[in-house]
Amino acid sequence: MIWMLNLFPKITSSYGKEVDNVFWFIFWISLIFFLIVQVAMFYFIFKYRNRREEEVSDIEGNNLLEITWTVIPTIILIVIFFYGVYVFDNFQRRPPANAIEIKAYAYQWWWQFEYPNGYKIRDTLIVPVNKPIKLIMTSNDVIHSFYVRNFRIKEDLVPGRYTWTWFKATEPGIYDIQCAEYCGTLHSKMIGYVKVISLEEYNAWLASLSKEMDLSALSPVERGAKIFQNKGCSACHSVDGSRMVGPTFKGLYGRDAEVVVGGKEERIKSDENYIRESILNPNAKIVKGYPAIMPSYQGQLSEDEILSLIEYIKTLK
Ligand code: CUA
Repeated sequence: MIWMLNLFPKITSSYGKEVDNVFWFIFWISLIFFLIVQVAMFYFIFKYRNRREEEVSDIEGNNLLEITWTVIPTIILIVIFFYGVYVFDNFQRRPPANAIEIKAYAYQWWWQFEYPNGYKIRDTLIVPVNKPIKLIMTSNDVIHSFYVRNFRIKEDLVPGRYTWTWFKATEPGIYDIQCAEYCGTLHSKMIGYVKVISLEEYNAWLASLSKEMDLSALSPVERGAKIFQNKGCSACHSVDGSRMVGPTFKGLYGRDAEVVVGGKEERIKSDENYIRESILNPNAKIVKGYPAIMPSYQGQLSEDEILSLIEYIKTLK
């Protein structure tokens, strides 16, 4: 039958084989006992089928038999239990310390993944091959379950708490993510993909992201720090107090500044409005001892970005 073909999809994770071994161990034990019981049942059905000429006899209990069929299954269940715990504890719950942490959020009915750089992507988890990935997960509404058959991993996402799982993909490719917890009408449509690519491709992808990344995902201070780097401020201003082409940003906010306004010296308090003016109209007030060479950033930074930059400067004490 065609659906049987993909019943056990190819293992493409580091500890998928161990998980499968536990499954098959339990499967074969169950099958053997199922056959023993069924064969015995049909044998006795046939052997003791109703024949009118026979007297029915009353058989008392058999202690040896009862102890045997209690002790043997108990031992087998204990072995199954400890084998399962062993694999769970030594593989499934042991993420390598160098794992890349990615956050996973479940919604009705889609997935969202957030990378360490703040980038968020919907329904597609992109990861490098042969690198351990740890997912920190939570749900925004009801319980969902992150299930990747090729990796042999499944973990619930629960509103109000964090759960986690980890895997190391061993082969590039695209693998289905399924939701394995009934979560409402479109539960069966809650499908995502893990895209496993080479480390070089992954790094190139991350680098291309950080250039055009939506900075709104960051706090104002973080955004300001990025703008400081990306917009070229760092070419002329230090953040550690050292003197570059322009005055340092260290301690800039709140200090008394000696500035030259239209050829005359003035002392001013360095506040938000002064910093904003210096970004948009740098020559209005020149810090004493520095050349008036800074270009205006009028039109290159939004109000929101300017305020973020100021928030960042405030942290440079
Ligand atoms: Cu989400 Cu089922």
